[in-house]
Amino acid sequence: MMNLGILISGRGSNMEAILKAVKKQKIPVKPAIVISNNPNAVGLEIAQKLGVSTETVESRGFSGTRWEYDQRIIKILYKYGVTEKDGLVCLAGFMRIISPEFIRKYKNRILNIHPAILPSFPGLHSQRQAVEYGVKYSGCTVHFVDEGVDTGPIILQSIVPVRDNDTEETLSKRILAKEHRIYPQAIKLVAEGKVKIVGRRTVITNQDR
Ligand code: GRF
Repeated sequence: MMNLGILISGRGSNMEAILKAVKKQKIPVKPAIVISNNPNAVGLEIAQKLGVSTETVESRGFSGTRWEYDQRIIKILYKYGVTEKDGLVCLAGFMRIISPEFIRKYKNRILNIHPAILPSFPGLHSQRQAVEYGVKYSGCTVHFVDEGVDTGPIILQSIVPVRDNDTEETLSKRILAKEHRIYPQAIKLVAEGKVKIVGRRTVITNQDR
């Protein structure tokens, strides 16, 4: 069974959805640790209430390099068994770019959720970008993390309509509901060994969704 580490920065609603789904949907991972770069992240309390260990590695005021910061995170991941051999790391609203060294060390073992249909609207404020651009559909994407920003192989996507009167807030809410469904589904597929990476694509076997 894979040891699951979740990295957050704030609200932690995806983390909550993942942790609840792990219990209910029998996802074969052990929720090992939730790490935040922000000591005030609301998600930390939620994780504790759900019986999962938490740690904080404060990034504000950290003067070292990105890799030095990430090494602190990795040290904690190791402490809880989330290694490159036995671990899976899920970024869930973690508001930092992680270093190439971290990504290479945990090759194909780091997942992220992005609130747009990639490759549209990468980076920040994707929902606002979607409203301003005028697309009729947007959604969310779970993907493996590679060394680019929001560019790794896509595992699952889910779409929502964009309504004429949508604001960034209303669209974000509609997308978030889908995020909470597909992130646990994607973790389940990865944990069950059903996701094969072929070049920049993934191929999913025995899919029952
Ligand atoms: C989500 O919209 C996610 O797609 C993005 O950051 C937000 C995190 O929200 N990467 P939460 O902390 O999971 O509630």
